[in-house]
Amino acid sequence: MNEQDVREREEQLSYLERCRTLFAQLYEGTPQTACVVTFGCQMNARDSEKLIGVLRTVGYTITESEDADFVLYNTCSVRDNANQRLYGRLGTCGGYRKNRPGMRIGLCGCMAQEEVVRKKLGDSYPFVTLLFGTHNLYKFPEYLYRLLSGEKRVEEIWNDTPNIVEGLPTERKYRFKSGVNIMFGCNNFCTYCIVPYVRGREKSREAADILEEIRALAADGVTEVMLLGQNVNSYGLGLEGAPSFAQLLEQVSEVEGIRRIRFMTSHPKDLSEDLIRVLRDNEKVCKHLHLPLQSGSSHILKAMNRRYSKEKYLELALRIREEVPDLAMTTDIMVGFPGETAADVDDTLDVIRKVEFDNAFTFIYSKRPGTPASCFPNQPDEAYVKEQFARVLDLVQETSKKRAALLEGQVAEALVEEVNPSDASLVTGRLSNNMIVHFPGEASLVGSYQTVTLKECKGFYYLGERHA
Ligand code: 5AD
Ligand code: SF4
Repeated sequence: MNEQDVREREEQLSYLERCRTLFAQLYEGTPQTACVVTFGCQMNARDSEKLIGVLRTVGYTITESEDADFVLYNTCSVRDNANQRLYGRLGTCGGYRKNRPGMRIGLCGCMAQEEVVRKKLGDSYPFVTLLFGTHNLYKFPEYLYRLLSGEKRVEEIWNDTPNIVEGLPTERKYRFKSGVNIMFGCNNFCTYCIVPYVRGREKSREAADILEEIRALAADGVTEVMLLGQNVNSYGLGLEGAPSFAQLLEQVSEVEGIRRIRFMTSHPKDLSEDLIRVLRDNEKVCKHLHLPLQSGSSHILKAMNRRYSKEKYLELALRIREEVPDLAMTTDIMVGFPGETAADVDDTLDVIRKVEFDNAFTFIYSKRPGTPASCFPNQPDEAYVKEQFARVLDLVQETSKKRAALLEGQVAEALVEEVNPSDASLVTGRLSNNMIVHFPGEASLVGSYQTVTLKECKGFYYLGERHA
């Protein structure tokens, strides 16, 4: 962090202290509950851990229920259904207010960056009295202080910021694994995507700061980290003397105590030879690559501004398959982009058949206000989209089942993440390739690495047995 970032952090830490004192005076030991509701990606999940860290430090009791004294929605706007779901939740939450005088409701994250959303909130949900965006999340202690001091409404939205302020308290969901932001924002401007508008331009954190955070996490019991960025392959852009992403992975793998490293997300256009080598050779780097395809049709890819063709993607994906045969490759696929026809979807199916993705997230194109594609002609009709989506989904499911079956009977190492919520005699572990295995075990195994035989493949997960 530069000097200004450090000053900003100090200021927020001082607000945090003032919040604690004020909170104690205001509530005099009467417990106050707070709930953070997270929508969207891993970045938002990590941001929520920061928000919860602040709330807990101030004195709130954290709950999962939105029937709470303070509710904060950390929102996603990548597809319209996320926005619509949020409005539904807000409606319900507004209802709780009737029995809770003094209840506070806030909204932050990607939706807060959208002007249309802010207008709608002002018109229809005036009970949302705290509103901040993606660039100023680190100022949460200051905003909370203003609210607790009696300000009726706090709204602050920035369009961008050069600051990267880290180091406020965070509360991890898992004690043994953590996300670590390595960069923020995106410069790619895929024509369908709202992210560059709501998360701003790409900014990388200094490698020294990232490594320091990971060392501290490791000292606190974390053994698995996931490096987070919209496009991790362009890590370091604009940072003088920064390592490449592949080099950063190697540096992280040298941190004592770290056993597994994951990362998310890779844009195919920037994936380097070095990264393939690290995926192949570095034992701590997990054998999983999420490589969003979006479409298999070269002309749709061009209209999406993805900057690769069907052939380029295939060449890259198949080369990685060859170099790192035990790697699981997953992807994102979109159906119904403006101008798309069944012949384009045939191309997508062709790529799925050739690459055999281990898993794929399939999305229906969603028109996002302000993005170039929202003005493209030939927005698809519903019947077409339904039909094509089913074709893609069928093949994706068939392919991933086939891939998963390949590991049946093999022995693998699993990091135990939790006691199985629907059967307490089982625990749930994650393999290096990101697949899930359920096997007999007890709570004391959570956080440990276990050698497991993958006895039976159930499609998207395995039933296994732990080696003694
Ligand atoms: N409509 C549908 N899916 C989208 N994605 C991003 N923007 C949109 C949109 N407007 C998908 C992409 C991306 C994933 C995170 O979300 O597939 O990879
Ligand atoms: Fe959106 Fe494309 Fe950036 Fe991913 S790379 S966040 S899809 S603009």
